[in-house]
Amino acid sequence: MNGVVLISGGGSNLQSIIDNANAIDLEIKSVISNNPQAYGLERAKKANIPTHSVDHKQFNSRDEFDKTLGAIIDEYHPDIIILAGFMRILTKEFTNKYLGKMLNIHPSLLPKFQGLHTHQRAIDAGEKIHGVSIHFVTDELDGGPIIAQRSIEVLDDDTAESLAKRVLTEEHKLFPEVISWFTKGRLHLENNNAVLNGEIL
Ligand code: GRF
Repeated sequence: MNGVVLISGGGSNLQSIIDNANAIDLEIKSVISNNPQAYGLERAKKANIPTHSVDHKQFNSRDEFDKTLGAIIDEYHPDIIILAGFMRILTKEFTNKYLGKMLNIHPSLLPKFQGLHTHQRAIDAGEKIHGVSIHFVTDELDGGPIIAQRSIEVLDDDTAESLAKRVLTEEHKLFPEVISWFTKGRLHLENNNAVLNGEIL
């Protein structure tokens, strides 16, 4: 399957997808960042993957940004669009256009802690368990049907940084696995449900 990966930052999830791409039948056609400084763009270049940066600061509206982003994505005819640490809110037009093809990773056990600063918020809320979720992207921010989650224990002396590090380790294992379900045709979005092997998750 052909995929496009959207990033905003360090790209450690992108790296785990690049490292597993062969095993999961994924050809990464392009990596696109809204942040021209994102280190993930270097990771993509090292792997000989075409990159684009679409700096959101150069656009007057979300709509204009999303249209430009969509035009670049469409050049690659992707079967799957992977949001791997992509930190922009997308318009309804955009999420509807790619409905059922777009997966996002979010560093919390959704529906808990949608949005930003999830690790600190989990600590502040006294959570004993925290983790990562992967979901289909719909027009609801961090709210589309959940496909898979992995949890870790929150330790008494955890900081947002130490927690983020252990959650990332789980992210790096889980994301390629979930993508492989999609590339193997086992995972679909049907009537706003995530369906794996014919069963609603
Ligand atoms: C990850 O924790 C991801 O879940 C979140 O942003 C972080 C990105 O990390 N949305 P990286 O760029 O993949 O290293």
